[in-house]
Amino acid sequence: MYLVTGANGGIGTEITRKLLQQDKSVLMACRNLTKAMPIFEQLKSEFPSAELQLWQLDLGNLTSIETFAAKAKTENLKIEALINNAGVMSKHYTETTDGFEMTMGVNFLGVYTFTRKMIPFLAEGACVLNTVSVTTTLGSVKENFLAKGAKNYFRLARYSDSKLVLLLFTIELEKRLCEKNIRVCGIDPGVVNTGMISMQRWFDPITDIVFRPFIKRPEDAAEVTMRALKSSLSGRIFRGTKNVPFPRYAKNHKMIEKIWGISENTLMQKNITFAD
Ligand SMILES: NC(=O)c1ccc[n+]([C@@H]2O[C@H](COP(=O)([O-])OP(=O)(O)OC[C@H]3O[C@@H](n4cnc5c(N)ncnc54)[C@H](OP(=O)(O)O)[C@@H]3O)[C@@H](O)[C@H]2O)c1
Repeated sequence: MYLVTGANGGIGTEITRKLLQQDKSVLMACRNLTKAMPIFEQLKSEFPSAELQLWQLDLGNLTSIETFAAKAKTENLKIEALINNAGVMSKHYTETTDGFEMTMGVNFLGVYTFTRKMIPFLAEGACVLNTVSVTTTLGSVKENFLAKGAKNYFRLARYSDSKLVLLLFTIELEKRLCEKNIRVCGIDPGVVNTGMISMQRWFDPITDIVFRPFIKRPEDAAEVTMRALKSSLSGRIFRGTKNVPFPRYAKNHKMIEKIWGISENTLMQKNITFAD
């Protein structure tokens, strides 16, 4: 099974469609089932014989992640690829159900929790693809990266921080999973014409006309993921038609190992534990 998070979104839907074109079985993991259902139905009508499922997953809600993991156990889920595509760039300061700042809570902590919960279900030779971004170069990470940060909230800065933490987690995950014969890579889709890049400001209609036609289409961005799935490489970032090693500034970052433990301890206080 190919598990795609945020499969009802711009890039996620196109990844799902391309997987179905290749006769893969796909599990769409989506936050809002009412919103996702028409897309699920549309894909079902395009690929009537496909094995396509839709499960609820809110990465900003630890109970939702636990429920998903319990269902995975009951259904004996076998994951060939975990495509961590879902992400958010919250315009204003908001919090997840469990009281973490939303952008960090979803883009990193939700992905961290979900990925670790899914490790027992990864098949031999499976891969995990985490969606990073060029903004990791703008991010910074300190020991208090999970602190709330309501003061001076600036969405792009918080988004960049969250994607940098995600990248550092990806590097550590790769180190831990390679001995289990599981590949781990980053995906950098580029600047893509989806809801993510909307600034939710008065000038959006102008940028929609002068900017959006010239940036990547979601179906082209999805190709980057397809290339990563086809490859046998691990520890790389797939970007455009190329793949590169994890960047040195991230590989040498002093927070790499700490992120794993700080997150685990924080989650333990919320009664979340792991069996991996
Ligand atoms: N677009 C770009 O230029 C760009 C550049 C670099 C990286 N990326 C990354 O690419 C990935 C896909 O983004 P996109 O451009 O396709 O954006 P998008 O159209 O906004 O799609 C985002 C997807 O993530 C889902 N999501 C948001 N919060 C969630 C949560 N709490 N739990 C589960 N799912 C959640 C959304 O679900 P709902 O519909 O329910 O909100 C949606 O399906 C993201 O990780 C993004 O950071 C995008």
